[in-house]
Amino acid sequence: MQGKFIVFEGLDGTGKTTQLQCVAQALREKGYTVHTTAEPTGNATGKLLRAFLGGKERSTPWAAASLFLADRINHNTDPDDGIMKHLSDGDIVLCDRYYYSTFAYQGTDTDLNWIFDSHFNCPEVQKPDACVFLTMPIEKCLARIHAGRDASAVEIFENTDSLTRIAKRFADVFTLLKDRETVFEIDADGSIEEITQRILSAIRPILEA
Ligand code: TYD
Repeated sequence: MQGKFIVFEGLDGTGKTTQLQCVAQALREKGYTVHTTAEPTGNATGKLLRAFLGGKERSTPWAAASLFLADRINHNTDPDDGIMKHLSDGDIVLCDRYYYSTFAYQGTDTDLNWIFDSHFNCPEVQKPDACVFLTMPIEKCLARIHAGRDASAVEIFENTDSLTRIAKRFADVFTLLKDRETVFEIDADGSIEEITQRILSAIRPILEA
């Protein structure tokens, strides 16, 4: 049986990476085989993207959007460890960020419909079964981003203006996609255990379908 593909999205600092690991652990304890993964990936396209995100490589918004798509296609189709391979093995794939991030982050400075079309018309981009969208007040996101990190490790999108703009963008994107995509918006302000339980309750019907 084909596995399930669940994407975690949220502003930087919402704890989505921690939650993804907690949810993976909880599902493994229930007996599921879980594959965790993330974008940008660790392969060549992903490394180029990280150089851009860290301000070390120049790019245009259109080039960045195309690179995120290329990275995503590689991520889907890798014959050994790709998303599609794991889904065909029946695994639950939990992915930290996916195309919703490109819609929100790259959609502003390019043409959102161009980005939608290039993803939705691409047979090598798997549609998620669900997206878990973690939300939290922006001041709290920033406090978490800056705690324990020196300024040079803070990426280009990690300031108040950018986060406010991106939060609005995610909201707009999810409104536009409400008839097409399954999105669970989860309030991520609370204890780690509480949030994990909220996510598990939200995705249960998807896993049991
Ligand atoms: P990362 O170090 O993975 O941070 P996080 O733990 O917050 O996910 O960096 C991801 C950065 O890349 C984040 O600032 C958002 C950005 N990004 C895009 O702009 N577009 C995309 O399609 C993706 C996947 C990420």
